[in-house]
Amino acid sequence: MTQGKITTFEHPLIQHKISILRNKETGTNEFRKLVEEIAMLMSYEALRDLPLEDVEIETPIEKCKTPMIVGKKLAIVPILRAGLGMVSGVLALVPTAKVGHIGLYRDEVTHIPHEYYCKLPTPIEQRTILVLDPMLATGGSAVDAVNLIKQHGGKNIKFMSIIAAPCGIEKLSQAHPDIQIYVGHIDRCLNENAYICPGLGDAGDRIFGTK
Ligand code: PRP
Ligand code: URA
Repeated sequence: MTQGKITTFEHPLIQHKISILRNKETGTNEFRKLVEEIAMLMSYEALRDLPLEDVEIETPIEKCKTPMIVGKKLAIVPILRAGLGMVSGVLALVPTAKVGHIGLYRDEVTHIPHEYYCKLPTPIEQRTILVLDPMLATGGSAVDAVNLIKQHGGKNIKFMSIIAAPCGIEKLSQAHPDIQIYVGHIDRCLNENAYICPGLGDAGDRIFGTK
């Protein structure tokens, strides 16, 4: 369902997989596979307006012009670490996409994000840019990531997360009203440690088996 710049996903496959992710008994291996699958299903929708270009090919019958996605038109940008878990799901659909990386970590006490890495494909101005992070909590990391991409010239930016808190969506859409936000499920709220409730815990730790 799309309301203004926010798209949420009612599809039963996505909701079912998110429920398994939430379960604290779900182990690293299954968690990783599910994040990848959910990212693939969500990006099918998020990339529905990818530009096509007519190319000439020859079928066994005759030559024809037929539309194809131009890989260099898409850049995907995971926010490290947890966004990395979504990359393979999107690449399964668009294997020729370029991949940038933005490294941010949240301070455990202040919850303010700190940048430690940024490498984006160049030139980026003409590309559709899909920013990936499974968790949109306070929204601080998403806002900073989009700021960085815009500073590098990025214009057509979409943000995709698996679970979001209402305040994170609000913060991101106020800071960047031009971007489309795709969210697998909107949860209730944040707790005192700025974790999403009910959420799924620490996405990075669950994807990489740390902690
Ligand atoms: C998590 C998550 C987001 C961020 C969301 O990353 O993957 O990037 O927190 O929180 P926010 O919306 O309040 O900014 P974290 O900083 O824990 O780093 P990690 O992925 O390396 O574990
Ligand atoms: N980061 C996470 O990994 N989980 C949350 O609930 C909030 C931020």
